[in-house]
Amino acid sequence: MSKFFRVAALGLAVVASLARADDAADLKRGKLLFIQCRACHDLQPDAAAKVGPNLYGIIGRKSASVDDFAYSPALAKANIVFDKATLERWIEKPSAVVPGNAMAFAGVPAAEDRAALIKYIEKESAKR
Ligand code: HEC
Repeated sequence: MSKFFRVAALGLAVVASLARADDAADLKRGKLLFIQCRACHDLQPDAAAKVGPNLYGIIGRKSASVDDFAYSPALAKANIVFDKATLERWIEKPSAVVPGNAMAFAGVPAAEDRAALIKYIEKESAKR
């Protein structure tokens, strides 16, 4: 291998490991941030509803689709899908996505906090 390629390969390896470190840091931050959601939500399959519905498989899930959860009329008729973009807007300000919904939560103002939260939720709530 020429010196140039060795240097280039080393550079790529460094970039890749930095990206992994970033990911791990985001997941850790997301886990801490989710403590505020955990008061009302679980992410594991078969966990009972708390004040809020179970969020297992939430990314890509239709709104108000947990069978035995008593949703507010506003969310029950909202008919949206929680893809990542919608979930991010919901976390920022739930009332801006579905006015009149019953989630008593002001929202997460910082974009990087929302991104970390979504990364954590995506991993922890993934269907398995
Ligand atoms: C004080 C309790 C509480 C907290 C804290 C809370 N939620 Fe909720 N959440 C609810 C309730 C109650 C609902 C159902 C709202 C309705 O029926 O209008 C809900 C609904 C949701 C939904 C829609 C689920 C569905 O099946 O349609 C999502 C997504 C969600 N919450 C995510 C979060 C996230 C992420 C956090 C943390 C950033 C959070 N919630 C914090 C109580 C809470």
